[in-house]
Amino acid sequence: MCGIIGYVGKQAAGPVLLEGLQRLNYRGYDSSGIAVLDHDGALAVLKRSGKLAELEASISDPPAGRIGIGHTRWATHGAVSDGNAHPHVSDDSAVVVVHNGIVENYRELRAQLGQAGVTCTSETDSEVIPQLMGLYLREGADFAEAFQRVLGEIKGGNAVVAMERAQPDQIYAARLGNAGGIVLGVGEGEMFLASDLPALLPHTTLVQPLENGQWAVVSAAGTTIRDLAGEAVPFEPVKVNLDPVAVAKGPYKHFMQKEIMEQPRALSDCIRGRARVNPAGVSLEDVTLTDDQIRSLRRVLIIGMGTSMHAGMVGRFYMERLAGLPTDCDNASEFRYREPLLGPETLVVAVTQSGETVDTLGAMAQVRDDWGAPRVAVTNVEGSEAARMADGSAIYLRCGPEIGVASTKTFVASMAAMYLLACRIGQVRGYLQGAKLEHAVEALMTAPGIVDQALAQKDLCRHVGRICRHIGHILYLGRGLQYPVAMEGALKCKEISYIHAEGYPAGEMKHGPIALIDRNMPVIALAPRDPLYDKMWSNIQQVQARDATVIAVGTEGDEELASAVDVFIPIPACDPLIAPFATAIPAQLIAYYLATGRGADVDQPRNLAKTVTVE
Ligand code: M6R
Repeated sequence: MCGIIGYVGKQAAGPVLLEGLQRLNYRGYDSSGIAVLDHDGALAVLKRSGKLAELEASISDPPAGRIGIGHTRWATHGAVSDGNAHPHVSDDSAVVVVHNGIVENYRELRAQLGQAGVTCTSETDSEVIPQLMGLYLREGADFAEAFQRVLGEIKGGNAVVAMERAQPDQIYAARLGNAGGIVLGVGEGEMFLASDLPALLPHTTLVQPLENGQWAVVSAAGTTIRDLAGEAVPFEPVKVNLDPVAVAKGPYKHFMQKEIMEQPRALSDCIRGRARVNPAGVSLEDVTLTDDQIRSLRRVLIIGMGTSMHAGMVGRFYMERLAGLPTDCDNASEFRYREPLLGPETLVVAVTQSGETVDTLGAMAQVRDDWGAPRVAVTNVEGSEAARMADGSAIYLRCGPEIGVASTKTFVASMAAMYLLACRIGQVRGYLQGAKLEHAVEALMTAPGIVDQALAQKDLCRHVGRICRHIGHILYLGRGLQYPVAMEGALKCKEISYIHAEGYPAGEMKHGPIALIDRNMPVIALAPRDPLYDKMWSNIQQVQARDATVIAVGTEGDEELASAVDVFIPIPACDPLIAPFATAIPAQLIAYYLATGRGADVDQPRNLAKTVTVE
């Protein structure tokens, strides 16, 4: 979850590292630091707890040196403090390291260090890495030997980047497991490395990611990659097509705002070329499942975390209604440890924006290793670990980079991707044909326009943000396809405005949560005209009878509902299967305006990180 950057070349390293940390600090942002080595081996380590601005403000004179490493931290072990910030150094300052992941056996390694007379000065798991390397160097190992030895000793998913004072022209980098990537970038007479691609884009588009179990020695003169057994791996960087402009904020105040507003385009890009109306059908070029494999499926399991899981919960309806297959949706972190039962007749769909979420990757590995289940990844990041684990069977969201920590455009695009997959499976299985197929495809085609119209209600959402911003709790209610959207609305609200919110199935509400309802508990009811509308209406009555302020998101023209509630936010009339795209918009906008009204840091909410590479 932390961000790592490295540079070696002809430029002053300090500014390059700080600029790279800017681009990475959506990954983790509770502390940051850089280490720069001068050509004569002088080492400057500058680090600070707090936002990157604190570090920048503390540097009046950038350190000299054309090689360095940097880190933005999301604390796992040890408080947020200057001492726990990275980089970490060995006690003789011979080795400096930045690290992403968790050294699961760090207690044991600390004890070993203690026996050898080395005391760690921070509370982190990371510090054992430079300390062990320093120890091995003092025992006679060279740097490559010390690095490799420590890679073999640390347990867990880890990305490690290290420099030796005695070699001020080389950076060592390794990726172990799924704790986050390391991408190497090639410039002219200079090399870059970073946790992910956006940080490299201003400098180069010629890149090579390290695979699990690979480590590299990176220098301006050349780069070598090896696996853990010491076998050489070809260094063959490839050109990527990613538009740096798409990563910029443009006229918006926050990335989240920009990403909310660009959802119609994101959806069109996701659907374009995949769904067609005449003749109706769906093709998914990157899904490598054969028609025979599809016909042999008996079940679908969708896994994901957070927003991706909520999209998966909507996807479950699509699989059942459009593909005609029994479907479950599970939280990946729970799924992988509950000894589930499945087999090769179950298609596992892993939904993950980043393609790097450790629990989702762990579950993907398990379904292949234990049951030989076929897998499809729904992801926004080309070449991500999830896409590769699915043997290239990926549906790319084509949303462009999502920088806001709170996912928005990838939520709607993930739903669209699962809708497309469900249509494709239904088509091949003969479950979805003729008029039913035509209707399904046409309905999906309306989604970008529906979202565009829903965005027009932003002033009403701002109004809700204003009237609710001093409230302590909010309840989101929905039924059927709207229940996952209620959960997503509550998640958005919690993560960026810090107001406690719960997303509940409206029918379940009277089995307990109704006890919480009084005039201080606003209820956001998702009530489009769908087959469950009448039931939802009754649930709204039940909370109104207990004095709740009700904000209803309903179908435009529903005057009866509009006049019965405190605030009515209209969404366009649409097919019930498409309604989650529409209701998601006010859910996101309300959270956004709640957060801005409270002065919260929308793009960098406290305690969060965009990519969660630890368990
Ligand atoms: O990259 P992923 O989609 O796998 O990330 C999963 C969750 O961490 C993520 O959806 C998180 O819940 C959102 N950023 C919340 O807005």
